[in-house]
Amino acid sequence: MKNNYEAEIKACLEKYETILREQIARAERMEQDAGAVDYSKKDKIIIGLIGGDGIGPIIMESAKKVLELLLKEKIASGKVELRVIEGLTLENRIAKGQSVPDDVLAAIKACDVILKGPTTTPKGGTDAPDMESANVTLRRELDLYANVRPVSVPEKGIDWTFFRENTEGEYVLGSRGVEIKDKLACDFKVTTNAGTERIARAAFEFAKNNGKDNVAIVTKANIMKKTDGKFSRIANQIAAEYPDITSEEWYIDIMAANLVNENIRTKFKVFLLPNLYGDIITDEAAQIQGGVGTGGSSNVGDRYAMFEAIHGSAPRMIAEGIGHYANPQSVIKAAEMLLRHVCLISEADILAAALEKTTGKDAKVRIDECKGATCAEYTEYLLAELANNI
Ligand code: IPM
Ligand code: MG
Repeated sequence: MKNNYEAEIKACLEKYETILREQIARAERMEQDAGAVDYSKKDKIIIGLIGGDGIGPIIMESAKKVLELLLKEKIASGKVELRVIEGLTLENRIAKGQSVPDDVLAAIKACDVILKGPTTTPKGGTDAPDMESANVTLRRELDLYANVRPVSVPEKGIDWTFFRENTEGEYVLGSRGVEIKDKLACDFKVTTNAGTERIARAAFEFAKNNGKDNVAIVTKANIMKKTDGKFSRIANQIAAEYPDITSEEWYIDIMAANLVNENIRTKFKVFLLPNLYGDIITDEAAQIQGGVGTGGSSNVGDRYAMFEAIHGSAPRMIAEGIGHYANPQSVIKAAEMLLRHVCLISEADILAAALEKTTGKDAKVRIDECKGATCAEYTEYLLAELANNI
């Protein structure tokens, strides 16, 4: 007898109903949010350090040494604590059957801010269980709604800051799609009013406070009518509150082309995008800056913030035995962003200057795709530069 899929359709509809109710509750929680923590008023700041998978522990060791040196006095006086958090490894996550095991999540929530190495996400479409990316879980659990990624190439006039929405879009239900076996699969994309308003406001406030005169709103609202349509409409409403800033609307495909078009790209300053487009285009932008190993990334919410390298865990480097050549610059750039976020501005400035000196054209030690310095050698070079300036 021909299967008319009634039972499967019914099961999918029930799942969809649960999802809709959960997402409405999430939107309502966002509407009640209380506003951001002021780190300058805290007596003590706890910085959690998470190694992650693949090259993560190698580059995080480097970042830890940098922070220990920069914050030596503040650690000694108890103003800052560096707290290593174990257990966010693929092996432990698989063993516990949780993308972020409960005890690890509790340890993370006891910190103020986190510096995290990359974590591996098992890909879908295989026999492995559909485990959510640890990043996505953490962004959701800590409500880290703004993924801020700066990219700068001064000699080419590039000074970009990407504000990627970080808690919804294609990601929020990415592991909870439905499937009619051997027929079709269907994922969900969610855009809420409150979620769009807060990321749009963050982007425009940043532009206003940092003298940036252009914000590009990037969607594919010609195709994704409901979700990107909403994102575009709300972003434009917020833009109208900032008459001194030029806001432009672009589609993601042509924006991907614009970034490699030298005649146009320098006019862009701040980009405001839904989650997946922001994911894709920030890798492109980091590559223009010198590779995904060079871009820092912050995930910021009102209560917590998490800083990380823009790239993944590079399991291929580990498999090929060249993990010691991993480039720590991206995660160290993230450490600089972390220091700035918790108002340790002079330490952030010292680190920024040392990073510029040790990565710029006069750098004496270079990381260069397995031909140049190792991660440890570069770290020694950076630490020596820092020690001269503290
Ligand atoms: C990023 C990464 C993550 C993402 C992965 C690791 C889940 O690519 O931070 O850009 O897709 O957001
Ligand atoms: Mg990415």
